[in-house]
Amino acid sequence: MNGPAVAAPSDRVQAPFGRRAARVTANERHGAYVVLRCRDEPGPRPAAGQFYMLAAARGWGGGEDGRPFLPRAFSVLRAPAASDELHFLIEAVGPGTGRLAELQAGEELLLVGPLGRGFVAPRGGRRPLLVGGGIGIAPLAIWQDQLAPRPLRVLLGFRDAEHAPGAALLSAARLATDDGSVGHHGLVTELLCAELDAEPWAQVYACGPPAMLEAIRAISAERAVPAQLALESGMACGFGACFGCVVPTSDGYVRLCLEGPVLEADRLESAIVAGAGH
Ligand SMILES: Cc1cc2nc3c(=O)[nH]c(=O)nc-3n(C[C@H](O)[C@H](O)[C@H](O)COP(=O)(O)OP(=O)(O)OC[C@H]3O[C@@H](n4cnc5c(N)ncnc54)[C@H](O)[C@@H]3O)c2cc1C
Ligand code: FES
Repeated sequence: MNGPAVAAPSDRVQAPFGRRAARVTANERHGAYVVLRCRDEPGPRPAAGQFYMLAAARGWGGGEDGRPFLPRAFSVLRAPAASDELHFLIEAVGPGTGRLAELQAGEELLLVGPLGRGFVAPRGGRRPLLVGGGIGIAPLAIWQDQLAPRPLRVLLGFRDAEHAPGAALLSAARLATDDGSVGHHGLVTELLCAELDAEPWAQVYACGPPAMLEAIRAISAERAVPAQLALESGMACGFGACFGCVVPTSDGYVRLCLEGPVLEADRLESAIVAGAGH
């Protein structure tokens, strides 16, 4: 085994019953992304890869004659030890993320979580290799925190210079950008192949857009390297009630909010989940 054992290697941390309020303590901009911090005193510390269903306490759809939005799913970006803070990384891509990204210190979030199953620590002395794309870097930041001080490698890919500042949220990352503005000009999967050539005894942990996850699934399968993929699918409830998040696996359909969002890559024929990705 390399490095110390990791405490609490993923199993599910149970969410307290019901939705609770959490006060926003900071809204920090990192290029195209916002890090929203809040205090969640009654909540347990989440495992890396778990997620929360978030809503703003005020201004969450509705209006005169409209319906309120459903809560939206967010990976926990960071849950600093010895604190009751939770951090979330948000990219404003629509009405829900847009509203959350504008919340300021003092305002309230409504949250349910932590939900789902997260990452499991590497076995057999394999070196953790964290691979993130775009907003998918979120669950990898808390996983890097929880794996420390174990030696690991981090590879991150972004569209352009506007998104690349997200890389500062993890440490010692190698970068790739689609437009070549920062780091390697090309795909993060090219960095992954080079890394696996140099160090094949690895355990891959990945989160990002479906096409990136599918490429990582195929590369890992070809090289017989184990990979855990944090997937996304449309989630209306987050706790198993709506069946909106089902994905096909080798053991049949599973609800991603309960069995995932992290799944072993070898359970998937494809990491392209219908209806996911932006
Ligand atoms: C487990 C999980 C973790 C997530 N973590 C994060 C995170 O850390 N940060 C973050 O910014 N976003 C995250 N997302 C995605 C986020 O939930 C969606 O972007 C959000 O629900 C969009 O809501 P909206 O009202 O802003 O936009 P909408 O108008 O609802 O959607 C905008 C665009 O995003 C697509 N989209 C919506 N929901 C999803 C989804 N669940 N998966 C993939 N594409 C979607 C839509 O097809 C559309 O193209 C996560 C999703 C899941 C399931
Ligand atoms: S989101 Fe409702 S069952 Fe998974």
